Amino acid sequence: MARIIGGIATSHIPAIGKAIAQGTQDQPYWKPFFDGYAPVHAWLHEEQPDVAVMIYNDHGLNFFLDKMPTFAVGAAPEYLNADEGWGLPVSMPYPGFPELSWHMIESLVNEEFDLTMCQEMLVDHGFVVPLSLLWPGKEARPVRVIPVAVNTVQFPLPTPARCFKLGQAIGHAIESFDGDHRVVIIGSGGMSHQLDGERAGYINKTFDVSYLNRIVDDVAELCCMSVAELVLMAGAQGVELLNWLVMRGAMTGRVTEKHRNYHVPISNTAGAVMLLENETAMAR
Ligand code: DHB
Ligand code: FE
Repeated sequence: MARIIGGIATSHIPAIGKAIAQGTQDQPYWKPFFDGYAPVHAWLHEEQPDVAVMIYNDHGLNFFLDKMPTFAVGAAPEYLNADEGWGLPVSMPYPGFPELSWHMIESLVNEEFDLTMCQEMLVDHGFVVPLSLLWPGKEARPVRVIPVAVNTVQFPLPTPARCFKLGQAIGHAIESFDGDHRVVIIGSGGMSHQLDGERAGYINKTFDVSYLNRIVDDVAELCCMSVAELVLMAGAQGVELLNWLVMRGAMTGRVTEKHRNYHVPISNTAGAVMLLENETAMAR
């Protein structure tokens, strides 16, 4: 059976993609942020996952405000990147895993999640930046990827509790898939930020740190929040933290925090990475 070995949550700010493209990771502005990924690289090297499920939000590339699925799962043989307006270099395609995608879609629909299934899906910085951070190198494609897009853009958004339950259903789906796969779940986006309106530039470090703590050991409390509370505390775009809750929901066993790094600010956002290990009865 396929096994979920862990979860990683990471920022996806476009400026990170630019820093990678320009090779400025060692400059003083960037170093404390990029250095935070070294322990995650070591863990990935040790654990060798072969599949990644990317929980992210599209920012107007594949979906737009006129047609916005609450949850969408990719079922394509490969995923093409395009520039949604940030001027980042377009990445090479990412290999998909249609057999596991369709198994996930069937399993999720059976668990009463009414999904949009996408046999073609363009992926934006919310998908590309985390992969570039976790597996550096333009051509690096060590994992097959399944995109799961969560609407964090067009209200009404799914509730934190619903996002956590989606993660649980993803966990059941993966662990009922035949095959010796090692799967990592990635939650993309956050932490607190608001890019527009009266609170543009808003960052809430106190809330972010408590969110990092609670995602490890008091996730039930996060699931009690309303979307309005999340917007209030994390900012209008900080609601990308919903993607972290889906990732956390997919941790099927005992969760151990292996690493975290929090660095403010990166562009207009609180940057962070967190690595959770998922220890199940199936552990080697
Ligand atoms: C920024 C952050 C985001 O999450 C995003 O999607 C775009 C821009 C920023 O801080 O610049
Ligand atoms: Fe974003």
